[in-house]
Amino acid sequence: MNGAERFLAACARQPVDRTPVWMMRQAGRYLPEYRAVREKVDFLTLCKTPGLAAEVSLQPVRRFGMDACIVFSDILIPVEAMGAPVSFGDGGPKLEHPIRGIADVDALRVAETQRDAPYVLETLKLLRTTLADETALIGFAGAPFTLASYLVEGGGSKTFSELKKLMYREPATLHALLAKLTDTVSAYCGAQIAAGAQAVQLFDTWAGELTPSAYRQFALPYQKVIIDCIRAAHAPAILFVNGCAGILELMEQSNADVLSIDWRIGLDSVRRRVGESFALQGNVDPGVLLSTPEAVGQSAREAMEAAGPRGHILNLGHGILPATPLACAQAFVEAPRRVTVGS
Ligand code: CP3
Repeated sequence: MNGAERFLAACARQPVDRTPVWMMRQAGRYLPEYRAVREKVDFLTLCKTPGLAAEVSLQPVRRFGMDACIVFSDILIPVEAMGAPVSFGDGGPKLEHPIRGIADVDALRVAETQRDAPYVLETLKLLRTTLADETALIGFAGAPFTLASYLVEGGGSKTFSELKKLMYREPATLHALLAKLTDTVSAYCGAQIAAGAQAVQLFDTWAGELTPSAYRQFALPYQKVIIDCIRAAHAPAILFVNGCAGILELMEQSNADVLSIDWRIGLDSVRRRVGESFALQGNVDPGVLLSTPEAVGQSAREAMEAAGPRGHILNLGHGILPATPLACAQAFVEAPRRVTVGS
């Protein structure tokens, strides 16, 4: 099997010759070749220049030989395309005009990918040609709740106070924002598949901050609409929520093909709680990759054993950390080649 076949078979819970592997945020600052590109261009220019974005998407695949390549971009690119200016400094993303009421929601437009973010589609086309079906190409988008968290907070947050204030005081305003984001993201995912993405990962990173009841109201229905669009375009949908242990049974209702699991729960417990129709992705603690190649190999083996041989994509429980030594990233990607799970 080649990487693309292996990855897509695992998404469909079909047998594989070995567990496929990739890493969230695999293109990034832990790579010297990425830092060399970033010395010359700022982050947004990199996202918007297809030749450079394709180059940094390929850097980790060339160096380590992952089974899948994720397109280099950011979840906030379509938000910018909706008319909300975003900047990226050392403190993470910043939005110029945080959303505070219905008038701010009304001022946003539903983005049209080809008109408002054509560079993402160009990058995907370049990648699909270069990868030549040897390595799977993954597109991605932020899910409405997580995008709304940045729009309302004006950037990252620890407490999500503004978002929760809006959610509990003015739920109709938040629903209006989520609906607009859902229209944008559904079309964005469809356009990515048409441009060559063979699977799409939906990042609802901050939905783990919700109570189960709030998740059912403010995250799940919108995820479902987008996941149905992805599946209607015949690509598998991967759903990631950071801190998902309390809402696993609700994530099951999203219709995703693959559930991407963070490190706070064992994949054996996840297997007992969710039905057999899901593939699992994950879930090594990115912090383990700050240790030694031996410890990384051990943690990767534990994740593969806990998940079982069928329907598992080895990944981290969240993005790789910038301080990760190259030898540890390499040990992670090599781990599936060194074990025969289930024998
Ligand atoms: O996985 C990949 O290799 C593809 C690229 C990718 C990036 N961001 C590149 C990036 C992906 C899939 C994302 C998703 C993303 N972006 C998420 C969801 C996943 C997650 O990690 O929780 C979120 C919440 C964002 C928003 C975002 N973008 C933040 C919070 C930051 C700053 C944090 C940081 O690491 O600096 C970014 C910037 C960003 N996005 C960088 C990269 C490589 C660092 C920018 C740089 O080069 O300086």
